[in-house]
Amino acid sequence: GLKKKEARILVLGLNNSGKSTLLNQLKNEDSKIISEVVPTVGFNVEKFKNQNVGFTAFDMSGQGRYRELWENYYKDCEGIIFVIDSSDKLRLAVVKDELDLLIQHPDIVAKCIPILFLANKKDLRDGMSSIKIASSLHLERIQDKPWHICTTNALSGEGLQEGIQWLTQQIC
Ligand code: GTP
Repeated sequence: GLKKKEARILVLGLNNSGKSTLLNQLKNEDSKIISEVVPTVGFNVEKFKNQNVGFTAFDMSGQGRYRELWENYYKDCEGIIFVIDSSDKLRLAVVKDELDLLIQHPDIVAKCIPILFLANKKDLRDGMSSIKIASSLHLERIQDKPWHICTTNALSGEGLQEGIQWLTQQIC
């Protein structure tokens, strides 16, 4: 199981998708939050360890010029959590662009790592369903990696365990 090995998980998503809230939900008494800020570029990297799983979160949005920074982490990661704000219809096209860049990246193409999509903010009234999000992002085209989508409320933690369980099963 998970306890036997270390796993490095990348948490990716646009700003405001809920990455920090999600990481806060996952933390427990034993875990350490390490926040790194690169002040010169104002680029935020959030790191978090839960048992043997290390989580590193990056904000993918609008910061194309910092892309090289988080791309460095692709080689070493063993799984990806891709967080989507399900209430943000306007930026779903931006999410798709970022997803395209991610899954076409040579370091990601080269490996068969699981991708967990979290359709977050399911509590909001205008939230899109996971089916709608999956079809908008054309997730069905991802055939060389296991992937899974579930809806979450990062504020309450609802849906999170199901997703994390799926991810750890894929890795271990
Ligand atoms: P950046 O740090 O800008 O990259 O954002 P982030 O992806 O870390 O998002 P963050 O966790 O800061 O959440 C953004 C806002 O959405 C905050 O006001 C959260 O409280 C809120 N939020 C996060 N998850 C949920 C959710 O499931 N439901 C609702 N209603 N609000 C949420």
